[in-house]
Amino acid sequence: MSKGKIFSGIRPTASSLHLGNYFGAVANWVKLQDDYEAIYCLVDYHAIIEDYDKDALSDRVLNMAADLLACGIDPQQSILMFQSAVPEHTELAWIFNAITSYGDLQRMTQFKDKSENKEFVSAGLFNYPILMAADILLYHTTVVPVGDDQDQHVELTRGLARRFNSRYGDYFAEPETIHTEAPRIMSLADPTSKMSKSLGEKHFISLFESEDSIHSKIRSAVTDTGLQTDEMSPGVKSLFTLLKLSAPESVYAGFETDYQEGTLKYVALKDAVYEHLVSLIQPIRQRREGMSMEEVRRVLDDGSERARAQAQVTIKTVKQKIGLP
Ligand code: TYM
Repeated sequence: MSKGKIFSGIRPTASSLHLGNYFGAVANWVKLQDDYEAIYCLVDYHAIIEDYDKDALSDRVLNMAADLLACGIDPQQSILMFQSAVPEHTELAWIFNAITSYGDLQRMTQFKDKSENKEFVSAGLFNYPILMAADILLYHTTVVPVGDDQDQHVELTRGLARRFNSRYGDYFAEPETIHTEAPRIMSLADPTSKMSKSLGEKHFISLFESEDSIHSKIRSAVTDTGLQTDEMSPGVKSLFTLLKLSAPESVYAGFETDYQEGTLKYVALKDAVYEHLVSLIQPIRQRREGMSMEEVRRVLDDGSERARAQAQVTIKTVKQKIGLP
């Protein structure tokens, strides 16, 4: 029996998944698909509101879908789709525009961060959380597995569900957020910032980059910030998090003891993180190599068609409820 409905999405802004996406969200997507009816979406309309490469976008959607399948998203169980194939996403977003307050959008920290010092800030960047709310509510989602950078957007989504229900009668469920045990993976080059594609090459590790490159990024991870405190520095904490996610408990405990006893060697910690991470992602990398892009395209088209059938029912009801002819 399904416990409920999942929707989650990822922007195809780079050609592959990074460790933050994987440990913060996708690992949960894979785990939860046995218990929930799940829809996972490449949110290409969310990718076009900041600078992007139009010649690469379509391939990025396909490549990221292939990455997700390699991670274990099972298209027999779950729907894998892309946003622009289901126009009901943008249709519902327009309707939600009418019930979203300008002030609520202004409070979104992601908007504040992304618009800072930019010469051109698109209205799309400001309205981004409305489209995200439409993505979620279109499918009567009950659970949204995301990293903690998306919490505020899901909170806004709950608010929109409430506002819609109070104006037009009960219809939308209020979705909950689910986190993994690592909802915020930090950049190894700057452990006070979240791992992200937008900070630049050295700030993220892709699941599919060369082992040499992964090794050199981990080897050059910042460990000391220069501040003298008794607490573990953010960089060391980050390495311990990656070790916990990838190594057996006994290995982790051994390094923790070394740390407490003051005998920890950073190089040994880094090499252990590298070794265990690479063995964790090895099977994913292998599955990805053997994948046919025609098959990925078929999976996406089929998933989008199945999603659209559900979306059309919601839009029809929403239009009736709000008084459209
Ligand atoms: P996006 O594409 O930035 O990231 C995809 C997922 O990866 C998580 N994530 C992280 N988790 C932990 N540590 C990190 N360093 C890290 N970096 C990224 C994100 O939290 C996210 O779960 N707005 C969304 C996409 C979206 C969406 C939706 C999500 C559009 N519609 C509806 C859920 C439901 C985004 O930009 O994610």
